[in-house]
Amino acid sequence: MERLTSRMAGATDAASLLGSVPFFSGLDKGTRSSIASQGKELTYKAGDTVVEEGSMGVGFYLIVDGKAEVRKKGKVLASLGKGQFFGEMSLIDEQPRSADVVAVSPTKCWALSSWAFGSIMKTNPEVALMMLKEMVKRLRAAQSSPTS
Ligand code: CMP
Repeated sequence: MERLTSRMAGATDAASLLGSVPFFSGLDKGTRSSIASQGKELTYKAGDTVVEEGSMGVGFYLIVDGKAEVRKKGKVLASLGKGQFFGEMSLIDEQPRSADVVAVSPTKCWALSSWAFGSIMKTNPEVALMMLKEMVKRLRAAQSSPTS
């Protein structure tokens, strides 16, 4: 079961944390602080499963530090690092998680509940657009993968 209850990062910590990742760095400070205060900082050990294929999604995750792999039936679909996100698909279409996401080193994520995620996407179209661009990039990579 995904956990979203953990230490809440201080709002200021989280705001500067988000400023360091390209995904949010284009936002003004006030917007970033307001978004930052809605998330939580979660830490994982190497080998921890953050998101499990087939389970219903409760969170959106942004990697603040560390590395994670997206895996489906033993195959690595993608490696994600600092500044990259995962967990958006299940929140967008309300379907089960499409893949496992496993921490492959000690990893720190900033996580949003599905409710906060929806609200931020609706009120910050520039964030939603950045996310769409990254999703298109992933789709193109999947299309050009030899086994797809
Ligand atoms: P979700 O389906 O909620 O949970 C698993 C996550 O893995 C998914 O959202 C995406 O964030 C990510 N993911 C799934 N497939 C790929 C892929 N081919 N490339 C990169 N990330 C992926």
